[in-house]
Amino acid sequence: SGLNTLAKSIGKLYFGTATDNNELSDTAYRAILNNNAMFGQITPANSMKWDATEPSQGVFTFTNGDTIANLAKTNGQLLRGHNCVWYNQLPSWVSGGKFTTAQLTSIIQNHCGTLVGHFKGQTYAWDVVNEPFNDDGSWRADVFYNTLNTQYVTIAFNAARAADPAAKLYINDYNIEQAGAKATAMQNLIRSLKSAGTPIDGVGLQCHFIVGQVPSTLKSNIQTFASLGVEVALTELDIRMTLPSSTTSLNQQKTDYQTVVSACASVSGCIGITLWDFTDKYSWVPNTFSGQGAACPWDSNLVQKPAYSGIAAAL
Ligand code: XIL
Repeated sequence: SGLNTLAKSIGKLYFGTATDNNELSDTAYRAILNNNAMFGQITPANSMKWDATEPSQGVFTFTNGDTIANLAKTNGQLLRGHNCVWYNQLPSWVSGGKFTTAQLTSIIQNHCGTLVGHFKGQTYAWDVVNEPFNDDGSWRADVFYNTLNTQYVTIAFNAARAADPAAKLYINDYNIEQAGAKATAMQNLIRSLKSAGTPIDGVGLQCHFIVGQVPSTLKSNIQTFASLGVEVALTELDIRMTLPSSTTSLNQQKTDYQTVVSACASVSGCIGITLWDFTDKYSWVPNTFSGQGAACPWDSNLVQKPAYSGIAAAL
């Protein structure tokens, strides 16, 4: 049976994948994507980001986001919205703007409110704030932090809650999967948001890993996050390697996928896992990390790799 069926059989809410609009014309790809026994949840890899949804101030375009949302509905899949506030893929009218605190507050409120409101009733969860921290645990000095200090987080979460009270609101980041300064910063932020009454429901651990380097503290760290009273989701899982792949690296990748999925499987507060696309054919990795790739459980011919059985064995 498929990965979503297996995940649900051990009490998880879903096993899912990211997808993107340009991939949907690939009928062989779609046949796998649309099978809700395999994927019970999808995330748009790009089409709900700020540059895609509000390219100029006050001008919203939801065509591509709607396509993904409608696909989830047709397929009987949960939808994770991604994302409201992020320093990247941010149009220059925002990133290069010189705004007063009042102006940027209303820009965030309007963006998050309109975006989350447009998809009201269609999303299980939203990544409201994406990647707020540097790797040393300091705040990323983007336009949001530089203008509003840490308050931008509260502004965004409040706007999202008002726009869709039923959606689970997440904060999402990478390199918080292992114990360390960045995870500690995120845990401290979640504690302080909760004690201030900010409506945060979950934390997303992206999980863009490297073969042979899955952090040994992953499971205990998932537990630490869950103990704060938030849901934990693995939101963007892939495990890349130096190309070309070999039997050895593909077998290590199988072990690594099994380790990661087992860590989520064994913590009840870890509610679901999302691949950052399921096939090497469409992975973001080769375009971002030079010389690396083969990060997904299906190869570029849409054939299951050893990694697939590693995941299945953990569920
Ligand atoms: C990536 C997409 O997959 C690419 O297509 C795009 O060119 C860049 O962004 N962390 C995130 C995701 O939160 O939004 C990123 O997605 C991958 C890293």
